[in-house]
Amino acid sequence: MKVLVLGGGGREHALCWALGRAASVDEVLCAPGNAGIAEVARCVEVDPTDLALVLQLALGEGVDLVVVGPEAPLAAGVADTLGEAGVATFGPSRAAARIEASKAFCKQVMAAAGVPTAGYWTGTDPGEAVAALDRFLPPYVVKADGLAAGKGVRICAERAEAEEAIREAMVERVFGDAGARLVIEEFLDGPEVSAFGLADGAHSVLLATARDYKRALDGDQGRNTGGMGAVSPAPDLPAGLRDWVRQQVLAPVTAELAGRGLPYVGVLYAGLVLTADGPKVLEFNARFGDPEAQVVLPRLASDLGELLRACAHGELAGFGELAFHDRAAVTVVLASGGYPGPYETGLPITGLEAATERPDALVFHAGTRRDGDQVVTAGGRVLTVTGLGADVHSARAAAYTAADRIHFARLHRRADIAAPR
Ligand code: AMP
Ligand code: GLY
Repeated sequence: MKVLVLGGGGREHALCWALGRAASVDEVLCAPGNAGIAEVARCVEVDPTDLALVLQLALGEGVDLVVVGPEAPLAAGVADTLGEAGVATFGPSRAAARIEASKAFCKQVMAAAGVPTAGYWTGTDPGEAVAALDRFLPPYVVKADGLAAGKGVRICAERAEAEEAIREAMVERVFGDAGARLVIEEFLDGPEVSAFGLADGAHSVLLATARDYKRALDGDQGRNTGGMGAVSPAPDLPAGLRDWVRQQVLAPVTAELAGRGLPYVGVLYAGLVLTADGPKVLEFNARFGDPEAQVVLPRLASDLGELLRACAHGELAGFGELAFHDRAAVTVVLASGGYPGPYETGLPITGLEAATERPDALVFHAGTRRDGDQVVTAGGRVLTVTGLGADVHSARAAAYTAADRIHFARLHRRADIAAPR
């Protein structure tokens, strides 16, 4: 079959790579892609949030399946537009993608489905929001309801800071309309784990667990980023967690959304906190994590094309058991100096070939482009280097050994991804 992947980051490179290896897939297209994706897929200069152009591309190329990478095209309704035209799509409808795009909706769904989560208040009135702080103990968690480019969550040690966060979001509208409604919730204390489920509208499966490293600097210091590295499977999981995710999280949420007339097709990415009172769900995302996809997909042995096609056609129940390689994966992000703040682009990258020569390493491009015969930096996160091994220790060594071969000016990476705690 012919598959079109939407997006152009490291996650989409991993998707294109895995689809390109799948026996069921004859050709992979990617819009817009990047310099690395161009080595495994045919890249087309189309903005994935331009729904008319995406539809034209899918129909014109006669693609059998569209796989949506990032959240922006989902929130814009790309799955609805494609679905109405009869194009099979892996990714939720705009209404179902609200599980990520609206934190208040996510909380309602979790409450109705009986999923353990943090106690919360939601509303649109600044005075009521301030009064609602009385119901919580510090640290206060104040969240913009809508998509705010990962900046909409404030964890406030002091009440005054929480009141300021409320004012900035609701009155000053620093996140625009995304902050018109707020969620204030209980602080959950404990290690975070990500669980990646796939759903076909009625059924769900657990694909894998992972842990990501969100802070810019070693020791989880510095600013929040899109993610500086990841490891899969997540180390030190409590016994039974995978079954708990299947039975207490993925199945009830899939059923709840179906019951609301919003059948969910795509990735259900649950962010969990392992609290002293047991695991709780922090939030859902409607897509693969980036860089978590770069550690989850290389572990999958099943045909990814068949699997995503089965989800898009509501045929997951007949798919059978998923197969995995018995190996761990660790990915290290090579970022531009300054990220997540301002950074320079257009810097030449060397050592890509030397790094990809290794059989135990994969180099996924996140923000790169071609400048003549040079590959140059073109984003904050530039590359993600994945190492594979029999265990986390050897996967980590493989990732760093390959990453050591790659250079560009002002390269920044964390040295402690998947290091023993
Ligand atoms: P989100 O944008 O919802 O993914 O939140 C970003 C990060 O904020 C999460 O990954 C957590 O580290 C932290 N966070 C969000 N909500 C809570 C909470 N209720 N308790 C503790 N940490 C939280
Ligand atoms: N790495 C976190 C995310 O993709 O949301």
